[in-house]
Formats: sequence, structure tokens, C-alpha cells
Amino acid sequence: MLKIIDYRDEYEEGWLRCRVLAYLHTSMFEDVETKKPTFENRPSIELIAIENGEIVGILDMILDDEALKTTALGEGLGAFLQVIAVHPDHQNKGIGQRLYEQAVTRLKCFNVTFIELYTRGDEPANNFYKKLGFEKRVEYYDVFGIEKGLRSPISIEMKDGRVYAQDEKGQSCDYVITEGVYEVYNLEALEKIDYDRYYPAIGYYKRLS
Ligand SMILES: CC(C)(COP(=O)(O)OP(=O)(O)OC[C@H]1O[C@@H](n2cnc3c(N)ncnc32)[C@H](O)[C@@H]1OP(=O)(O)O)[C@@H](O)C(=O)NCCC(=O)NCCS
Repeated sequence: MLKIIDYRDEYEEGWLRCRVLAYLHTSMFEDVETKKPTFENRPSIELIAIENGEIVGILDMILDDEALKTTALGEGLGAFLQVIAVHPDHQNKGIGQRLYEQAVTRLKCFNVTFIELYTRGDEPANNFYKKLGFEKRVEYYDVFGIEKGLRSPISIEMKDGRVYAQDEKGQSCDYVITEGVYEVYNLEALEKIDYDRYYPAIGYYKRLS
């Protein structure tokens, strides 16, 4: 039988496996956690869905308080849905929705008025949030590449276990940039970047009743 319970440290390995497998075949595949994030002294809701001893779903929410606000899409205090993920062998069976509903029930004890989250373009996740009543509030782009002009040709020599690099003018280089992630707020700026891939990053908002 499936149960939704609070996360405890003893579940960390199962939590990590569930997260990495859930993200594997999404556009967020590079976003791997190797430790369960903790939220220090901040108010949070950390749930797991467990079935026959296996963690099949996870949810973390960080709540704004008077001391610190994480959300940006709404006025006043909100809840930031940092992660919701269901193990791929158990998706599309209502587990994500149950996790979400349990979190919303818990939120009634807190002084927050909305939920905010960000995701990329994956259809299951976008359908999921729309079905739960979220509205799209903002869109920008996560672009994987390097700004044109930042990568200049270098020559490399490997000697005695070390790499010696020189730029076109013969100056030695101790480091070069290979690739990074850019948050792009205006799609026209894409022409300034040599990129491998890019995704929409979509911010969703839902007012709590
Ligand atoms: C998004 C996710 C958490 C949904 O969890 P889930 O348990 O599979 O979803 P549920 O069974 O509760 O489905 C609820 C609704 O989501 C949508 N949905 C879920 N899976 C879907 C799929 N494969 N394709 C299209 N829509 C889908 C549907 O609208 C569904 O409602 P319906 O069954 O009435 O059609 C899950 O697909 C997942 O872990 N995805 C990978 C990780 C991820 O993208 N997380 C969000 C990061 S921001």
C-alpha cells in the first residue's frame, strides 16, 4: 500500500535514487543531486511516497517567512516547490498528485498564499501543473553553450603529466572555459551564444484558496 510520509535521513539513498531516475529521461537530466538538500532552519515540507519499502515519489517545498523570501512571482509569502518527482516505474498512477495534495493540506498551517515553481518544457510535468491549476507566469531559457568570442583557439602540449596551453598570441593559458549554462531572458540574445541545446524555463504560479 502506498503511504505519504515525512522524509527522514534514513531515506536519503532511496530519495536520491528516485530523484535521479525520475529526471533521467527529461530535459533536466543534467540536474543530479548527490545529497538530499536540507533547508537549515527554514520552514519546509519534505515528503516521500513509499510503497513496499521503496521510495517511489518525493516532494520538497521551501516556505517563505518574514526573515527570507524565495518566491518571486507573487506578493506576500509563498511556497516554493523545489522538487516533485515520481520514480519512472510508478509514474502516471496518481502518486505525484497525492504528494502535491498532501503538501497543500500541510500548507494550511502556514501563512502562505501561493505556490511557485519552475520547470522546463517536458510534457508530463507541464500537463501535471496545468491539471493542478497552475498558471504560467514567466518564461526564459536555459542555454547550454558558450558566449561567442569567449572561446579562442588554443594550442595544447602535454608533457610530464601536465597540459600546457597557449593562445594565438603565444601567451600561456592556465584555464579555458568549455561550456556553461546561461539563463537567457531575451531569445534574440541566442545569436550571441554557441550552444548545444536550450530549453524553455517556465515559472508557474497558483494562488491558494
Ligand atoms: C511530473 C510528475 C511528478 C507527475 O507525477 P505522476 O505521478 O506521474 O503524475 P500523476 O499520475 O499524479 O498525473 C497527474 C496528471 O499529470 C499529467 N501527466 C502525468 N504523466 C503524464 C505523461 N506521461 N504525459 C502527459 N501528461 C502526464 C496528466 O495531466 C495527469 O492527469 P490525468 O491522469 O488525469 O491525465 C512525474 O511525471 C515525474 O516525476 N516526472 C519527471 C520529473 C519531473 O519532471 N518533475 C517535475 C520537475 S519541475
